[in-house]
Amino acid sequence: MGDVRVLSLKDRPGDIALCARWNFEQWGREAGRDLAGTEAALRDIACSTSGEGAVIGLLNGKPAGMALLIACDLESHSHLTPWVASVYTVTESRGQGVASAMMLGLERLAAAYGFDAAYLYTESPGFYARLGWSVIETLAHETSDMAVMKRVLAG
Ligand SMILES: CC(C)(COP(=O)(O)OP(=O)(O)OC[C@H]1O[C@@H](n2cnc3c(N)ncnc32)[C@H](O)[C@@H]1OP(=O)(O)O)[C@@H](O)C(=O)NCCC(=O)NCCS
Repeated sequence: MGDVRVLSLKDRPGDIALCARWNFEQWGREAGRDLAGTEAALRDIACSTSGEGAVIGLLNGKPAGMALLIACDLESHSHLTPWVASVYTVTESRGQGVASAMMLGLERLAAAYGFDAAYLYTESPGFYARLGWSVIETLAHETSDMAVMKRVLAG
């Protein structure tokens, strides 16, 4: 196991372009977004002081993953906020606790903003269930079921 650290992405502005590229390659290209727009949106989220934020995970000092706290990730459930989204670890750094540490970082950020719970939307509920998240709803999706999950935050 290596040394895992989680920092606010706003304190690593030089890594925003790298994180945007990860996000774009994992999700954005297929969704029809463009890289420049992804980077601009990520910069806005990273610099937010009103309920959103981004973290970067470092493995042995090297950028290894990113994750977001955003106001809404599922339009049909906009009554719920905030949402954890875009949890990503680079392939070669997986299985070393980077994403788990980033999840903890986002939970602390959400609690610091004063939220008493956070939500996410995933086709991989097993990963989050290990971290204390619970499925509150299952939505049928074209290719696989999607779970809406909730985490009660320590006050
Ligand atoms: C899912 C992902 C973020 C995990 O990142 P990671 O840094 O490897 O996570 P961690 O090291 O903290 O935890 C890894 C553990 O979770 C487990 N895990 C990973 N994906 C899982 C899943 N879908 N269901 C259940 N457990 C899972 C691993 O088996 C591993 O278990 P172990 O510690 O017992 O070996 C990473 O695989 C990834 O970026 N995948 C592509 C993007 C993605 O699917 N993101 C989530 C979208 S909602």
